[in-house]
Amino acid sequence: MSESKKTSSDSAKKAQTNQSWGGRFNEPVNEFVARFTASVSFDQRLFEHDIKGSVAHATMLAKVGVLSESEKKSIIDGLNEIGAEIRVGDFEWSQQLEDVHMNIESALTARIGDVGKKLHTGRSRNDQVATDIRLWLRDQIDQISILLTDLQKGVTGLALAEHDTIMPGFTHLQTAQPVTFGHHLLAWNEMLERDFGRLLDCRKRLNQSPLGAAALAGTTYPIDRVFTANQLGFDYPSENSLDSVSDRDFAIEFCAFASLLTTHMSRMSEELILWASAQFQFIDLPDRFCTGSSIMPQKKNPDVPELVRGKTGRVTGHLISLLTLMKSQPLAYNKDNQEDKEPLFDTVDTVQDCLRAFADMIPAIESNKEKMYAAAKNGFSTATDLADYLVRNGIAFRDAHEIVGKAVAYGIENNKDLSEMTLDELNIFSSQIAADVFEVLTLEGSVCSRNHIGGTAPDQVKAAAARALEKLVSR
Ligand code: ARG
Repeated sequence: MSESKKTSSDSAKKAQTNQSWGGRFNEPVNEFVARFTASVSFDQRLFEHDIKGSVAHATMLAKVGVLSESEKKSIIDGLNEIGAEIRVGDFEWSQQLEDVHMNIESALTARIGDVGKKLHTGRSRNDQVATDIRLWLRDQIDQISILLTDLQKGVTGLALAEHDTIMPGFTHLQTAQPVTFGHHLLAWNEMLERDFGRLLDCRKRLNQSPLGAAALAGTTYPIDRVFTANQLGFDYPSENSLDSVSDRDFAIEFCAFASLLTTHMSRMSEELILWASAQFQFIDLPDRFCTGSSIMPQKKNPDVPELVRGKTGRVTGHLISLLTLMKSQPLAYNKDNQEDKEPLFDTVDTVQDCLRAFADMIPAIESNKEKMYAAAKNGFSTATDLADYLVRNGIAFRDAHEIVGKAVAYGIENNKDLSEMTLDELNIFSSQIAADVFEVLTLEGSVCSRNHIGGTAPDQVKAAAARALEKLVSR
């Protein structure tokens, strides 16, 4: 074989390897391996943020004199044109080019010529992808904050309207003491309020710029990391290049937030499902959030809360995936981390959908006040009030507990609530009971007497709902 022939067949082979890193390779990557290692099918979702990061990087390279002003301009113009093309669906993604980063960079060079090859100076895909995911997730967090706030407004608004609606409060799902429906709803708001705090914490910690960490050790160019951090709205550049390109703890933190949020929403769902059942009939869910059965004509199934309850499983699953993905990874970047995207993307999508559905549905709930009241009356829910009454009249709590227990047994036998017994009947169990007992034995008396911060008295609930709403409005 002549010398010249050998050279040309070599370069033909090389031409089929990846143009971004094919230099040291002598054969094209196996077709299966190309598919197996590619991420462009899902990471193209990062294109807006990839372009933003590249624009900031190119601007900085010109500022420090690595690029000329005209080179910077053609790079940024080219990137913006590519962005516009992707947005309208005119861009052809290539699996051969592996990921979103190399697809865009290669399109840039095809468009503006060799100057496009200068964009990657002083940067690596490792700090590039770490930057992109942070920027993307930050935007998603900002949208989720709005959705979560909407939901909280719906919950507290309903709580205000229902501040004096009496329902049974449960422990062990057994009637315990009467509460107000508004109070129950404000308990939901407290869960959501803590979730909101966790979301903000996550945003705060993720908002630092990995750009400049390059592959793992930093770069020899005179880069300005504070400048790129500012350009991209990060609070500051990250402190350690090895850590910046390797850890995905911010994504894990987000999924932990999402797992708790959906867990809370699954608890709300469960209660909505129970309350909407023929056995409870506490609430009516609007038809648009329910579906029918193809075989049982009477059915109205609470599909939306059921699905939200079910979606909790996949979100928690994604948290476990990411924790397991990160576990035992040595510093710094490893290809394992390419697996961070699908669980994270799906978590974001799921959380947004669940919040949207709930924010829409909760304010549309109609309470059935008579059913709630009757249910609270049914289970001797004022028994503790009677015991407290006896304590106020000088009886030790344990003895009072025993006395009331006997009165309840009598009530069960005679099918009478405590408030329906005569004074003579109540005196069978204690001579310390006088006519004023009936003030505490009514459901209204019971809830009104729990009149302190965090208590179920209607006045307290009204004030608490107003405080919560005020906080949400000024968020
Ligand atoms: N697609 C890769 C990821 O998602 C980008 C970084 C690849 N870096 C590398 N050295 N292979 O993580």
